[in-house]
Amino acid sequence: MKVLVVGSGGREHALCWAIANSPLLTKLWCAPGNPGIATTAECVAIDPLDIASLVAFAQDTAIDLVVPGPEAPLVAGITDAMEAAGIACCGPTKAAAQLEGSKTFTKELADAASIPTALWERFDDPDAARAFIRKRGVPIVIKADGLAAGKGVTVATTEDEAEAAITAIMDQKTFGNPAIIVEECLQGEEISLFALCDGQTALLLGSAQDHKRVGDGDTGPNTGGMGAYSPVPSFPPRLEEACLEAIIRPALHEMARRGTPFRGILFAGLMLTEDGAKLIEFNVRFGDPECQVLLARLQSDLLPALQAACDGELGDFDLRWTNQAAVAVVMAARGYPDAPEKGSIIKGLTEAAAVQGVTVFHAGTQAGPEGTIQAAGGRVLTICATAADVSRARTKAYTAVDALDWPEGFCRRDIAARAAE
Ligand code: AMP
Ligand code: GLY
Repeated sequence: MKVLVVGSGGREHALCWAIANSPLLTKLWCAPGNPGIATTAECVAIDPLDIASLVAFAQDTAIDLVVPGPEAPLVAGITDAMEAAGIACCGPTKAAAQLEGSKTFTKELADAASIPTALWERFDDPDAARAFIRKRGVPIVIKADGLAAGKGVTVATTEDEAEAAITAIMDQKTFGNPAIIVEECLQGEEISLFALCDGQTALLLGSAQDHKRVGDGDTGPNTGGMGAYSPVPSFPPRLEEACLEAIIRPALHEMARRGTPFRGILFAGLMLTEDGAKLIEFNVRFGDPECQVLLARLQSDLLPALQAACDGELGDFDLRWTNQAAVAVVMAARGYPDAPEKGSIIKGLTEAAAVQGVTVFHAGTQAGPEGTIQAAGGRVLTICATAADVSRARTKAYTAVDALDWPEGFCRRDIAARAAE
């Protein structure tokens, strides 16, 4: 099979790394990729949102399967465009990607399918929103209704914070669309649950816990994710199965009933509340860095599973996973998430990758002069380690982090610390 992965982050490096192991693979490309990905795939300089050029490339090279990593090309319709050109694409159509693209869509779907989720209300009028929040009081959650690159959500603990969020989204139109959703604030532990879907069937890919804040002890601003681990001791297999049944399968059935079946990776962000697990949001792709820890534990060949998801043939599929734990620590460039410094040289990559059980995935890297690797983005590397338990995997991941020679980079030092105790 000839395969094209779309994207350039740590998630896409992990996808390429897993797919490259498949005996079914004849050749792997990645658009646009990064220097780490270039060790397993041929990188082609096409932007993930330049869908016309991606389709033309896939046709010219007779690609058998396209695997998009990030949400933006999915929401923009890459699957529809590939399928129209007769090319299989393991992701949802534009209509099905609304599960991530529109928060209103997802909340309405959750209510229609009786999926447990936070109570919610949508507002177009800022004064009505302000009145509602004064009546409900804090804590309360305010969300921009659309893709906001993870920055559109405010968990307001004071009325001033709520007011500032309304001003930014509704008056200043920071995210374009001025509509908001106001939600009940859920309390509990946050978990990411993943399933591979073929329109009808959901195959469990496991769960992981992300660390969203930039600083140790969950301090500082939100990020794309600073580290993850899997499996999660507080979310055992019987709970995974229960959430698959109560949250993912009803969503899949509702999407199929509406004539917009969901194919691809469905990622349920869950809160484990005192009243049971509740849906926070759906994403229509793997998480980053959750993808890295999940794929590090996968023993089966990923490629036929992705193909079966496209073909509606996941019914008889089974995936095998190791009993090992995986821990991923994200290395970011100084200044992330506000203003990451670019251009610093990262040394010690070979030493880090030489730690037993460790894989170094590249994200925001670029090739510098004389064979060097430079930082070129916010999140730059994912250091992923597997071992018999979370505690040992954690130790290995930080051993590899310490083997790096990159003073301009930083990471959180408490990834998976609570789970390791
Ligand atoms: P989202 O973009 O919907 O994933 O929201 C970003 C983050 O905000 C989530 O990962 C949660 O930590 C938090 N969050 C979102 N909705 C709620 C809610 N209803 N209650 C508490 N926290 C929430
Ligand atoms: N790490 C969270 C996400 O990819 O959305």
